[in-house]
Amino acid sequence: MPTVTEILETMEYGPAPEASGEVMAWLKARGTFGHYIDGVFTKPGKTFESINPATGAPLAKVSHGSAADIATAVRSARAAQPGWAKLPGHERAKWLYALARHIQKRERFLAVLETLDNGKPIRESRDIDVPLVARHFYHHAGWAEMLEDEFPGMKPVGVCGQIIPWNFPLLMLAWKITPALAAGNTVVLKPAEQTPLTALAFAEICAEIGLPKGVINIVTGDGETGAALVAADVDKIAFTGSTEVGRAIRKATAGTGKKLTLELGGKSPFVVFADADLDAAVEGVVDAIWFNQGQVCCAGSRILVQESVAATFQKRLSARLAKLRVGDPLDKSTDVGAIVDATQLQRIRDLVAEGQAQGAVLHQAEGQLPSAGCFFAPGFFTNVAPANIVSEVEIFGPVATLTTFRTPDEAVELANNTRYGLAASIWSENINLALDVASKVKAGVVWVNSTNIFDAGAGFGGYRESGFGREGGREGMHEYLTGPVPRAKPEAEPGRLDAAPVPGAASKGPAPIDRTAKMYIGGAQKRPDSGYSYAVIAKGREIGLAGLGNRKDIRNAVEAAHKAGGWGKATGHNRAQVLYYLAENLSAREAEFAQRLKSAGVPKPADEVATAIRRAFYYAAQADKFDGAVHSTKSAHVTLAMPEAFGVMGVACPDDAPLLGFLSLVLPAIAMGNRVVAIPAPSMPLAATDLYQVFDTSDLPGGVVNIVTGARDELAKTLAQHDDVAAMWYCGGPDGARMVEAESTGNLKATWCLANRDWHGAAGQGRDFLRRATQIKNIWVPYGE
Ligand code: NAI
Repeated sequence: MPTVTEILETMEYGPAPEASGEVMAWLKARGTFGHYIDGVFTKPGKTFESINPATGAPLAKVSHGSAADIATAVRSARAAQPGWAKLPGHERAKWLYALARHIQKRERFLAVLETLDNGKPIRESRDIDVPLVARHFYHHAGWAEMLEDEFPGMKPVGVCGQIIPWNFPLLMLAWKITPALAAGNTVVLKPAEQTPLTALAFAEICAEIGLPKGVINIVTGDGETGAALVAADVDKIAFTGSTEVGRAIRKATAGTGKKLTLELGGKSPFVVFADADLDAAVEGVVDAIWFNQGQVCCAGSRILVQESVAATFQKRLSARLAKLRVGDPLDKSTDVGAIVDATQLQRIRDLVAEGQAQGAVLHQAEGQLPSAGCFFAPGFFTNVAPANIVSEVEIFGPVATLTTFRTPDEAVELANNTRYGLAASIWSENINLALDVASKVKAGVVWVNSTNIFDAGAGFGGYRESGFGREGGREGMHEYLTGPVPRAKPEAEPGRLDAAPVPGAASKGPAPIDRTAKMYIGGAQKRPDSGYSYAVIAKGREIGLAGLGNRKDIRNAVEAAHKAGGWGKATGHNRAQVLYYLAENLSAREAEFAQRLKSAGVPKPADEVATAIRRAFYYAAQADKFDGAVHSTKSAHVTLAMPEAFGVMGVACPDDAPLLGFLSLVLPAIAMGNRVVAIPAPSMPLAATDLYQVFDTSDLPGGVVNIVTGARDELAKTLAQHDDVAAMWYCGGPDGARMVEAESTGNLKATWCLANRDWHGAAGQGRDFLRRATQIKNIWVPYGE
């Protein structure tokens, strides 16, 4: 027997497995699972096995949900929804509290079941996942309680289809279900085929507490089942998973009016500056990429280290790597568990091999792997070229890349050199430097001197191709509510529709360019690339010519908008001043604009200009007031929720109210720091192009507002497809809306397709416009020892 001194010298310790008897007995008793629909488990249909990836042993059989199962579940959710929404928030809160308590009662059971099904270490499921699950239920019980006060006038979306992945099975269920229920929605949830078991255990809890039937429905199955849910009669789809499937879902839901949130992949930077606490940063890597087998969408999988400390950091990283314990996930001292299944393991192996073939050098600790089961030795790559596959593609395994940088600017450039934008982790003892980089990194979540911290009180979600929408906190609640829906107003009177400006359709067809037919790009009037203009017709009479814009004009406008990046960095106060000035200059020309609208046959021209002026003052006022929050999350943490501009936005304006509709969309976007490429009302674009003088005299920097005239839907398509346009608003017909949503999948831009409305009224202005003109960056700053 070793002496105590010997033990302390080697720090060796024996196995400490968590007992799994209770869970195994439960699985044995259930044997084969049906779906949970309308408050009961259905008779099992066609089944597949859920496997323990650490051993390869089957755990249970679950049913493969068909389109008919999905339809039954959606009907049940639909039937239950009005009753659930009608309950006072306090009553819904009580149900959420009951679920929270029952989850807490079964914490150990759920953690063991999760670890068996997913392969993650019990330390993660027991100490992180399940407590967070309970926290989400408690937190959202609170939102249910306060719903009417906090979200006045808002309504639940209706029936929500939710599709979740295998990396945090129960936690993703909680992230999805809790805001939905709190807001008064009902749910059909499809867990991942690799990890359905904790969702089924959760269904048992719902049945046990007597949750009203139909409020939660759980249908198991694979991608086919998921696709059936996307196609079903639901009002919203919330999806977490791969970017590829996210794109398919965006396409499938285009034009359906289904609300959509996508939480997709990432390739998150982990930036270590020379003055960082290097040991803490090394532990950060353990948490960010190894401890969870790298199977986290926000894993800090690209480690960027400042050159002067790179050798030291790599040495310490290697030393820590050698000490990691890989093996039985149920063992309480295991650091790295199993990969979720053989397919994922193979995917990791292939990507790693390809990375090596492309010249990257893999560092792995030796001799750690169990002989059976789906395990992959954790490690990191050096010598990685930026174009190497492992630099670009999400590996979703316990392997990071390690590269160096010299200056903070280079760190930011490398950090942002990715299609994704889910998260970032920044390590420096210099708070000034850390926050400066946090502000410049394009990511939805930024952790300073920390990594992978989550809380129900803070939002989580990505920029760019990491998706759109947020989960958690107030931001997450918004995704499950709809505002007072303004009454849709028919767009414009017949004869003033898009068709008119298209070549050949106007009275004279495209005319050679006229000196007056100019667009506004980069702060200057520009002739259209086509060299053609179209006749603007009012009451059967030609009142002027407008440029017939094309793809090239849009591309030039996007480029000009990008060059005007300084607008986004200006303070809210600076932007407010320009907008006040703009409002004043528009007032000075009120009569002239009213006359112009009148001659174009626009109804209520004087009202339209007067309201447009007030709107300009309103958004000037908001420019330095629409701001973020400091969330109450973990102790010794400040969690800042900062609304940030998207960057360059595309805006396709309604045909109705050609001046007011244009300004109602463009002003909130620029008030928040965006630069805009706007397509004005095709039937009366002169109302918008006339504004160039107002813009010029108001000191609006060139490129902040760019106006391209022409056929709205053709131009909108180019904007929707443009990868350098980060967000797009479209106000037009349903066909155009479908087109914009379907064409925006390239860079997965956030889109807002809004119906034409009474622009004179309350629906034409407000905080909702500002909320949609921004995306929230959540920055976590720990303090204290
Ligand atoms: P996946 O995106 O295929 O699966 C996620 C969920 O979507 C599962 O429930 C699946 O059944 C469902 N699904 C699949 N195809 C669908 C469709 N056409 N319509 C509706 N639902 C569908 O992800 P998969 O294949 O499990 O993993 C592949 C890669 O995706 C991983 O290697 C990783 O890179 C990434 N991933 C990212 C996650 C994240 O949290 N962002 C989570 C899981 C995977």
